[in-house]
Amino acid sequence: MKSIPIIDIRDLTVVYNAGTINEVVALTDFSLKVEKGEILVITGGNGSGKSTVLGAISGTVPIKSGSIKIDGIDITKWSPNKRAKLIGMVYQDTMLGTCPNLTIHENFQICKINKWWAPIPYNLKLSKKQIESLIHTGLSLESRDVSKINMLSGGQRQAIAVCLAFENSKPVLLFDEFTSSLDKDTREKVLDFVLEKAKSENATMLMVIHNISMFTKFYSRIIKL
Ligand SMILES: Nc1ncnc2c1ncn2[C@@H]1O[C@H](COP(=O)(O)OP(=O)(O)OP(=O)(O)O)[C@@H](O)[C@H]1O
Ligand SMILES: [Mg+2]
Repeated sequence: MKSIPIIDIRDLTVVYNAGTINEVVALTDFSLKVEKGEILVITGGNGSGKSTVLGAISGTVPIKSGSIKIDGIDITKWSPNKRAKLIGMVYQDTMLGTCPNLTIHENFQICKINKWWAPIPYNLKLSKKQIESLIHTGLSLESRDVSKINMLSGGQRQAIAVCLAFENSKPVLLFDEFTSSLDKDTREKVLDFVLEKAKSENATMLMVIHNISMFTKFYSRIIKL
């Protein structure tokens, strides 16, 4: 029996600012099937629609027509919030993906409980697993758990967003240019961490990448937009 693709995008058309002078047709009749456990790289020039594909899956862009299924369930009309139970996201923009006015510890807390409020009592310290994730980045962030995100550099924020994406073992992970703000050493450490985590959790990953030469050991398939 043929298995159901974990992601099944059919004839997707995305139009920003439809009907206005700023209308942009970002994707036209785009289709893509991704099997469970695949690590898929999406590459292509600036403005070719890579972030739009990830945004369509996570629910943050205006879909004009077409459908998106996750594990056979049609999520096209689901809110981003509902989709977040299945999808972990690291944004190209390092200002997104973390809450700037909360500390590293608090960001882990709200990510873990997946709600806007915190139950009382809640963990006052990072868990062992969370500390281990931060240690993998090699940026000593585990000792800055009470620092607010807006006190961190772009690369530090991006590294934390990667750790947060793995916090809840989500079946689908969407990483948009997730190493763009990382220096070479940190990039290698974060890449190894991501690969190990994705494999151990049998996660399906879609990664948008410009410079694929440093990712050769990493992906199972590549598509160009
Ligand atoms: N919020 C938005 N409002 C209007 N147009 C948008 C918006 N986001 C993207 N676009 C347009 O949609 C098209 C695709 O953009 P997208 O961000 O998906 O490209 P990309 O391939 O991710 O580019 P880059 O490599 O520069 O990140 C572009 O023409 C862009 O101008
Ligand atoms: Mg982009």
